[in-house]
Amino acid sequence: MKKLLINGGIPLHGEVRASGAKNAVLPIMAAALLTDEPLLVSNVPRLRDVTTMMELLGSMGVALTTDETDNIRIDPGSIHDYRAPYEMVKTMRASILVLGPLLARHGRAEVSLPGGCAIGSRPVNLHIQGLAAMGADIHLEQGYIHAQAKRLKGAHIVLELVTVTGTENLMMAATLAEGATIIENAAREPEVVDLAECLNSMGARIGGAGTDTLVIEGVDRLTGTPYRVLPDRIETATYLVAGAITRGRVKVKETRPDILEAVLLKLEEAGAQVNTGTDWIEVDMQGRRPRAVQVRTAPYPAFPTDMQAQFLALNAVAEGTGTVTETVFENRFMHVQELLRLGAHIQLEGNTAISTGVSELTGAPIMATDLRASASLVLAGLAAKGDTIIDRIYHIDRGYEQIEEKFSGLGARIRRLRD
Ligand code: EPZ
Repeated sequence: MKKLLINGGIPLHGEVRASGAKNAVLPIMAAALLTDEPLLVSNVPRLRDVTTMMELLGSMGVALTTDETDNIRIDPGSIHDYRAPYEMVKTMRASILVLGPLLARHGRAEVSLPGGCAIGSRPVNLHIQGLAAMGADIHLEQGYIHAQAKRLKGAHIVLELVTVTGTENLMMAATLAEGATIIENAAREPEVVDLAECLNSMGARIGGAGTDTLVIEGVDRLTGTPYRVLPDRIETATYLVAGAITRGRVKVKETRPDILEAVLLKLEEAGAQVNTGTDWIEVDMQGRRPRAVQVRTAPYPAFPTDMQAQFLALNAVAEGTGTVTETVFENRFMHVQELLRLGAHIQLEGNTAISTGVSELTGAPIMATDLRASASLVLAGLAAKGDTIIDRIYHIDRGYEQIEEKFSGLGARIRRLRD
């Protein structure tokens, strides 16, 4: 079933629970490769990307067991293969996260280059440069990264760009390196901090997580540990924007307002009343039309690129002229063409999308192109009058757990089509 049917124009009201963070659970699952003891991960979202990572680890001989709740037990003691094949890596770029751990713990890795994707070329040169700086012997051959290292050595790495998975790969590799590693211009995303906290509970010695300078003292071995993944801030913010774009009131529970400050400020600028508690956030539009906002994406703690498409949808129906500037990826406006089909007035000028809000969008058949673009199409469909059919929604299932159940619980008329 690859299509969603949405009958929009209904203000959403109610409460929804945030799932565990996709972009934290993926590196944490890869971190299991750093030890030979079981990692017991909880608050794991049921997502396609998590299944893909389980299949990848399983193909290496890692034993994985899940119960019918949100727990995964990852036992790497029986690993017998150190390869991430193209067939898997091409469906999920985050597979690159096994490179650092395999190299650090097993001294060898063969990982397919991820190749580009819809939102950009997305090279991994900084991952490779960092590992080489730590003494790895790395060469590229026939689309694969071939890496070897007797034992990685601590290094002083200055990343020329802020890279989230680059920081994560190098941080994981450094936990078992000989001596200390300093990573400057490191990513500060909450998911990087969550990974660091998991690694430290496995016996790693990482300081500075959440700042732009990480200091990692290498240790001889890491142990297994239980670890609960933090809530997904992008899923949370997507549901909050759903409340704003439909002029309703939505409360997201089991989440964290402290890691969404830039987004909550923009929602207030758009005219939403935002209330928060320790583990919940509520957006109330009080039936009013949102006001257009100016958004510019950048690495955390600035406005997240993963919320850019969702705010472009909000601007499409807002009062006034809004701009969305994308500074992280070179081609992350694939959703614009689809929003135009719903009657949005948006024009692209370089890496900025300028929108003149319309009071109403009209439902139409549209197509998802990448994960967050498809989220913005769902939001636009929820606001649009009439029926919107979104094709290729496998993109959505990569990052949004039970999306139609969660939106139906807020009063949306949304269901999967048997095509
Ligand atoms: C992570 O991707 C996230 N994925 C992305 O979320 C997110 O959009 C991105 O960070 C930015 O926040 C996961 O965490 C699994 P980057 P990542 O390396 O690490 C360039 C989603 O929707 N770059 O921070 O791949 C790169 O091309 C996904 O959940 C290099 O040039 O992103 C980009 O322009 C989409 N060389 C910029 O840096 C490198 O070696 C930031 O990319 C690495 C990156």
